[in-house]
Amino acid sequence: MTIRLFLITVLSFGLFNIPAMAQSGDVSKGAALAEKFQCASCHDRATKRNFPPIPFLRGQHQRYLAKQLQAFRQDQASLSGGLKVSERYNHLMDVSASKLTNSDINNLASHFSSQVCRSSGRISSKITRPKLAEACAFCHGQKGRSPFVAYPKIAGQNMGYLIKQLKIMRAGAKNPSAKNARFHRTMAAQVVALTNAEIVALGYYYSKQNCE
Ligand code: HEC
Ligand code: HEC
Repeated sequence: MTIRLFLITVLSFGLFNIPAMAQSGDVSKGAALAEKFQCASCHDRATKRNFPPIPFLRGQHQRYLAKQLQAFRQDQASLSGGLKVSERYNHLMDVSASKLTNSDINNLASHFSSQVCRSSGRISSKITRPKLAEACAFCHGQKGRSPFVAYPKIAGQNMGYLIKQLKIMRAGAKNPSAKNARFHRTMAAQVVALTNAEIVALGYYYSKQNCE
């Protein structure tokens, strides 16, 4: 990746302008909402095991979390209206997100991103990085600890969850309107040609990295 390409990508995504905006939510209101909606009953259960495939949210970028909640909410709202692109759908999360206002979303995202991250499973520095991961490092960081607010941190994330996401994003790359697929233009290009074995190797590697 050349410096020029790096700058074009960063500037075109406006990534350097975002952090100020990203802190706009109210952490304590977010904590109260998380309690009310029992978000942790699903999301903290996943931290020690890789099944069920539920992501941990602690320490994730605020802007990324808020965007995902908006995507779940939008899918729920448009289910009966004929969805054109399945940006993100999940039967459990769409129900949770459908009840949230924009400020709820901002506050919840601020609450979870302000928490100290927790790595899922057992961390190991001995696992060789798959060659393919070189292509991911530019956005997600050398070991999955992405420094950019729009690119999620994937280090130490639940392995089953990572594998599932890569597969549903691959399905979305092939058919963006497929039910249960996940579509994101940038990621689509990254995953469209991956085999199942490559996806498993990537999910395994990133899940074993320290999130801190
Ligand atoms: C019944 C279980 C359940 C509850 C309750 C729940 N979630 Fe989720 N959540 C999930 C599952 C499962 C996924 C993964 C969906 C997928 O596979 O795409 C998810 C995904 C997410 C994501 C995407 C994370 C990422 O890394 O992309 C966010 C953000 C999120 N949930 C926030 C919340 C918030 C905030 C609440 C409370 C208002 C909540 N969830 C309540 C099960 C739950
Ligand atoms: C050009 C930047 C870029 C590259 C390169 C890239 N990604 Fe991503 N990735 C993103 C963005 C942006 C998202 C968030 C998509 C969204 O908003 O739904 C994402 C999302 C993800 C997610 C979902 C995380 C979650 O919490 O749900 C996984 C897993 C992932 N990428 C893995 C990879 C892997 C593995 C590679 C290398 C094969 C890779 N990415 C290459 C930009 C990139």
